[in-house]
Amino acid sequence: MKKFIVAFLVALLPIGALAAGGAKLPLQHIETDYTNQASLQRGMQTFVNRCMGCHSAEFQRFERAAQDLGMPNNLVEEYLIFDSEKKIGEQMTIAMAKEDSQVWFGNPPPDLTLETRLRGADWVYTYLLGFYEDPSRPWGVNNAVYKDVGMPNVLEDLQGIQKLACTEEVLMRYGIEGDIDPLTGARVGGCLSHDASTGELTAQEFDKVIYDLVNFMAYMAEPSKQDAHRIGTYVLVFLFFFFFLAYALKREFWRDIH
Ligand code: HEC
Repeated sequence: MKKFIVAFLVALLPIGALAAGGAKLPLQHIETDYTNQASLQRGMQTFVNRCMGCHSAEFQRFERAAQDLGMPNNLVEEYLIFDSEKKIGEQMTIAMAKEDSQVWFGNPPPDLTLETRLRGADWVYTYLLGFYEDPSRPWGVNNAVYKDVGMPNVLEDLQGIQKLACTEEVLMRYGIEGDIDPLTGARVGGCLSHDASTGELTAQEFDKVIYDLVNFMAYMAEPSKQDAHRIGTYVLVFLFFFFFLAYALKREFWRDIH
């Protein structure tokens, strides 16, 4: 038994090591909600319009998204599929060749179907809110969580220009939103100053666009989550009733022996 416990503890060790290694920058939290179909629909619209120029989502089919998000197929075909050759049953692939985009951006834009599983929804959310002006970079922008990123700030027309208002050290310590100083109660950090007059949306409206977008990306990474929750409830209800049945059966079997 002792050996077993030691082996068990040793097996747990790498988990601790992994947990210790996370990102340095505090991330903004997003509470994704796969039951909010309106949000998912808006997110898909943004994704198709603003991201699929460069990023594919090749493990997702338009038809499945239409079904899960409660959209009629003909509307999806009309408004969300821009390639006239493409059918609703096909995957969300793009025409840009990886060899070309490698040359244009330094790194090819990766497929985003499973991105929130890879990085976590919080990371993707913070990333999309975290572009700031940096004239030393080829596209004139850098990113708070992805230093020297090869992606331009494709939503700058909506968001407006953000500037880094503090040193990178403070950014790393307090994150892009800043933190509350426990002594004075004042907000410190607050690293990205945002000039609302340069964008079409207010900061809150833009946050909402990104919320919907990341919500959709989280759905895409785990499209069966809704089914899993529903079936899981049935299983638990079944197990609850089965317990009484099994107990009655056990009593029946043991009655003659006692
Ligand atoms: C003009 C092309 C272009 C568009 C449009 C674009 N991206 Fe990107 N994106 C890139 C490139 C290039 C990279 C790779 C950057 C790198 O590795 O340095 C990237 C990287 C990313 C990453 C990080 C991937 C990783 O884990 O390394 C995410 C997340 C992302 N993009 C999301 C989006 C979203 C969401 C949209 C739509 C709002 C979008 N992108 C639109 C070019 C683009």
